[in-house]
Amino acid sequence: MLTSIHLADWKSFGSGEGARNLLPFAPLTLLVGPNASGKSNVLEALRFLQGAALDLPLADVLRGRWEGQREVWPGIRGHVVEAARSGTRGFELATRWRLPSSEVTHSIRVSTDGDVSIERESLYEDGDYLFDTHAPALRGQPGRVDGGGLRVAFRAAGKGNSPTTTCSALKSVLVQLEPKERVAPSVLERSTDVRSGLKDAVFLDIRPSLMRDYRPTKAGQLGTSGENVSPVLFALKEQEPGRFEDVVDWLSELSAPALETIEFDKTRLDEVMLFFVEKGGRQVSARSASDGTLRFLGELVALLTCREGSLIVLEEPDVGLHPSRIHLLAELLEDVASRRRLQILATTHSPTLLAHLSQEALGAAIAFGRDADSGWTICSRVSDLPHFSHLRDAPNLEHLVSTGWLERAL
Ligand SMILES: Nc1ncnc2c1ncn2[C@@H]1O[C@H](COP(=O)(O)OP(=O)(O)O)[C@@H](O)[C@H]1O
Ligand SMILES: [Mg+2]
Repeated sequence: MLTSIHLADWKSFGSGEGARNLLPFAPLTLLVGPNASGKSNVLEALRFLQGAALDLPLADVLRGRWEGQREVWPGIRGHVVEAARSGTRGFELATRWRLPSSEVTHSIRVSTDGDVSIERESLYEDGDYLFDTHAPALRGQPGRVDGGGLRVAFRAAGKGNSPTTTCSALKSVLVQLEPKERVAPSVLERSTDVRSGLKDAVFLDIRPSLMRDYRPTKAGQLGTSGENVSPVLFALKEQEPGRFEDVVDWLSELSAPALETIEFDKTRLDEVMLFFVEKGGRQVSARSASDGTLRFLGELVALLTCREGSLIVLEEPDVGLHPSRIHLLAELLEDVASRRRLQILATTHSPTLLAHLSQEALGAAIAFGRDADSGWTICSRVSDLPHFSHLRDAPNLEHLVSTGWLERAL
């Protein structure tokens, strides 16, 4: 599980004293705050780290990567120029992970001046380094060496001096580790754990307009916009009917016309489209289903079919849902997070969603705002805000949130 992220000089986040840029994560963490307060910037930071863990050069992670005519990695908003906070030429992202065996902290400081390259990277476990480009073993020498190299010291297997090696500064050290005689096995194990945590993270930004087409039956994954919802559900119905029924049950709570089941039309070209079957037998294809229904369906399918234990990152899952149905989303997020051991991170603008959370999930939400003087993003766990109990116990929590209680408390 990802237990926190610290963002320094990343987009709207500041650094040093006075910066409120540490976000602690729970199994379900909602990021809540006004427009342009920096919520999506956090999700983009995680996507940056995912790109680095996928073995891409850091410049490509920011700019995007094309192979032939195909975009294989969409860049980060603002690309290289606006990755670091305006006026600065680099940023640092540190994530803390709870692994089965221990807790580790991965930290990467990147320069966006000239080549996008690493200035410092480290992985620490219980105060000791697994690897560090600025370790004492390097005798105070900076990690960077001429010609784009990065000197790294590793935890040693057994006694004796720490082994060192030179990596490229253009990619994360996490993807450049190789088993070497004197490198402790734990270095590779923990690095692989962090890499997998990042690589397996699912980023969803559901787009109903992309969910309305026939798609190849063997499409496999849902896709970040939910575009393959028809084939994924089609396969689920055949392979895991129990889970398919779960999807139908959740969805039938949402829609006004009672939903009986979901059926499919398969073409001779082996493409498939889903149809909602309403009570009474009327059928509506994905093509003319409501945006809200498709969005909720996309989120449902993602949460119920992703690998157990994954990190799921959602942009504004409440969009398009009627206020009287938002409680379903709150239930879904909390229920699935605990039952399938998922970790869910989602941005939201909905006071109604907050009002329907359990006290635990409400306290774990993170409130966002901007500092009036510096303009930096500031954030705080809701349970750490002064007078949190006043909010928690308020009969009109939704009203308090929609009239700016969180921003004033920040
Ligand atoms: N490089 C940067 N330097 C300073 N501020 C930035 C930078 N990049 C983005 N921002 C700020 O972040 C805002 C966007 O934040 P975002 O996370 O998308 O907001 P939201 O909370 O609505 O998701 C922009 O409006 C801008 O103010
Ligand atoms: Mg946003």
